[in-house]
Amino acid sequence: MPIQTAATPALLVDRTKLEANIRSMAERLDALKVPLRPHLKTCKNIEIARMTLAGQPGGITVSTMAEAAYFAGHGLEDILYAVGIAPGKLEACARMMDQGVELTLILDNPDTARSAVEAAGALDRNFSFLLEVDSDGQRAGFVPDDPALVETARMLEQGGCTVAGVMTHAGGSYACRNTEAIAQMAETERATVVAAAAALREAGFEAPVTSIGSTPTATFARNLSGVSEVRAGVYLFQDLVMAGLGVCQPEDIALSVLTEVIGHRRAQGEVLVDAGWMALSRDRGTANQDTDQGYGLVCTAAGEILEDTIVRATNQEHGIVANRDGEPLDVREFPVGRRLRILPNHACATAGQFSHYQVVNRGRDMPEVLERCGGW
Ligand SMILES: Cc1ncc(COP(=O)(O)O)c(C=O)c1O
Repeated sequence: MPIQTAATPALLVDRTKLEANIRSMAERLDALKVPLRPHLKTCKNIEIARMTLAGQPGGITVSTMAEAAYFAGHGLEDILYAVGIAPGKLEACARMMDQGVELTLILDNPDTARSAVEAAGALDRNFSFLLEVDSDGQRAGFVPDDPALVETARMLEQGGCTVAGVMTHAGGSYACRNTEAIAQMAETERATVVAAAAALREAGFEAPVTSIGSTPTATFARNLSGVSEVRAGVYLFQDLVMAGLGVCQPEDIALSVLTEVIGHRRAQGEVLVDAGWMALSRDRGTANQDTDQGYGLVCTAAGEILEDTIVRATNQEHGIVANRDGEPLDVREFPVGRRLRILPNHACATAGQFSHYQVVNRGRDMPEVLERCGGW
């Protein structure tokens, strides 16, 4: 069992919880009659990718060229690279397309479109694009009724590229205060792509793809009519930010960091462990939620949550475990050498600190160690 033997800190994935999370999102989207194009930036692993794709059309979403190359190398060739394309990456995209990858890119401005048209001419390639639209005012995207959306689509098509449709990501759902607000944001996300696609279709584009997705909006959407696919990622593992939003319970979180007690701050009633921010990440996504989980919620080695015991502070390789309310812990319960597990604030950020997972509750079909692709 990796819990006893893995060198700490180690990244653990609980297969039973992972499977339950995958099943519950697949059932939700089935009920809403929309397929999943899972965002694999969360898992960065082929075995987990294949689990998420069971019963789905097979298209995937990635956030780095390294993920695109890794998954294409494992035979997943319908890839949406869902970060606004940097013109400097177009040559690498063309090389990937030469190897048979069906790559779709995104952009949200005429300047990038101009560079794409130039590169399409110089490289003699037809790049396929989704135009990104802004549904939450948080990051990127055309405003749906901005005439620049249709003008940019025209520039792309006249320049030998394809406009496959539109996409948006309601990342603002992470800041919602209740599930009703998330449901409303899901409706805004849906209405935004439907309106943008309608504008393109009125101008003569087919624009078959209307792509949306974040885990909170996918979880609480009531109606996804007009949406052609949902990109969700963090639902695979879930995390404390999702638990704080009501998307899951802390018990559903499939990812944890295994750590060992290395000492005590007896005067303060605090415990030192060998998982600092290099293992847990610096993500403090629960800081503005009703329950601040510090750098993570502490569990026994077997995964039972120790209520109100959190990683209060971190240095690079040290974590300081404390009571949430500041009352001293009984440090005798945490002898040096005791193993603990820490549930992450943000699964993508914590997993990003590791090169592989150790699987707990694994079945015969799954190896004990799963790789993660890294880099960009
Ligand atoms: C463009 C895009 N699509 C989909 C997602 C998936 O969102 P989540 O991890 O909440 O499922 C993300 C996450 O950052 C994203 O950036």
